Amino acid sequence: MSERIYIFDTTLRDGEQVPGCQLTTEEKVTVAKELELLGVDIIEAGFPVSSPGDFRSVVEISKAVTNPTVCALSRAVIGDIDAAGEALKLAKRGRIHTGIGASDIHIRNKFNSTRDAILEQAVRAVKHARTYVEDVEFYAEDAGRADLDFLCRLTEAVIAAGATVVNIPDTTGYCLPDQYGAKINYIYNNVPNVDKATISIHCHNDLGLATANSLAGIMNGARQIECTINGIGERAGNTSLEEVVMAMKVHRELGFETGVDTKRLYPVSQLVSGMMRMPVQANKAIVGRNAFAHSSGIHQDGHLKNSETYEIMNPTDVGVDKSSIILTARSGRHALKHRLELLGYRYDKPTLDGLYKQFLDMADVRKEVNDKDLMELVR
Ligand code: KIV
Ligand code: ZN
Repeated sequence: MSERIYIFDTTLRDGEQVPGCQLTTEEKVTVAKELELLGVDIIEAGFPVSSPGDFRSVVEISKAVTNPTVCALSRAVIGDIDAAGEALKLAKRGRIHTGIGASDIHIRNKFNSTRDAILEQAVRAVKHARTYVEDVEFYAEDAGRADLDFLCRLTEAVIAAGATVVNIPDTTGYCLPDQYGAKINYIYNNVPNVDKATISIHCHNDLGLATANSLAGIMNGARQIECTINGIGERAGNTSLEEVVMAMKVHRELGFETGVDTKRLYPVSQLVSGMMRMPVQANKAIVGRNAFAHSSGIHQDGHLKNSETYEIMNPTDVGVDKSSIILTARSGRHALKHRLELLGYRYDKPTLDGLYKQFLDMADVRKEVNDKDLMELVR
């Protein structure tokens, strides 16, 4: 039996913090409805105290979706929690996500405070949030660089105060996968009441390790992953939803499953990219333009013989129609013959050899040879 991993989507909160990616309330509601169809478990809809627009977005998303839990962010500050609680009033299932810096760097520099005072503030915040909702998530900001024993003390205290989920964020994307995995493992082995809450992971991608760290987190006991569509988010972004979900699906032997309908991944990626005016890099795993495109002759030949030679997943599983063969000067005869046949042209070997020579001359100049170019070649 597979273990269920909860997908917490923060595209509309951490993702929307990206400069230039801000959405209107109406656009956020559209994205939230698509996330619901995608099958995410929790939608972090915004940070209500931050602006009237964000408050309204959380209210409207609470009204618009039924199945996912709607989550609102707050600092461990009474006024923030009140705004989050108010904004979530109409949610079928509402969650307040409150928290505070947990590393000494944050405690000293941001708060000019002490570990004990931070712990007290965290407990007060969780108790206050519980007066609004039964589902309270606590985030220990910069947990990736926090003292491990303090992190355990903090986790134990917030669970005792009523937190249902404890988020251990690698806020600065600092950890290596084995370090992050060991951190989660240590928490599981050293927090006496850990079984009373879900441990969540929230990784940033500053070293390009967010997906690897998230997988290390669930392999060590965490059961919720916080992630965004296309991996957007502060600085180098967050864990990419499509990457962690497909990693779990491709590697069934890990024994994890999610509620995500993977065939919707590509359409949702396109929607978010278009609305946020944030292009997806061509070589982005799963949803990039080249994720299922083959361009070198050796790869094309193998792929045309059997797609499994160069593909570990079926493009239709992520909502991409089909793989593509891109004709460039690195392509071989097999790919040219295949594309010509798709256009309805069949040639004997000597003719094809002649065409191939002309094709290479054309490809050296035009970089990529499309169907229109091929028709020209044939004529
Ligand atoms: O990266 C982070 O620590 C966050 C928290 C607010 C959860 O985004
Ligand atoms: Zn974050």
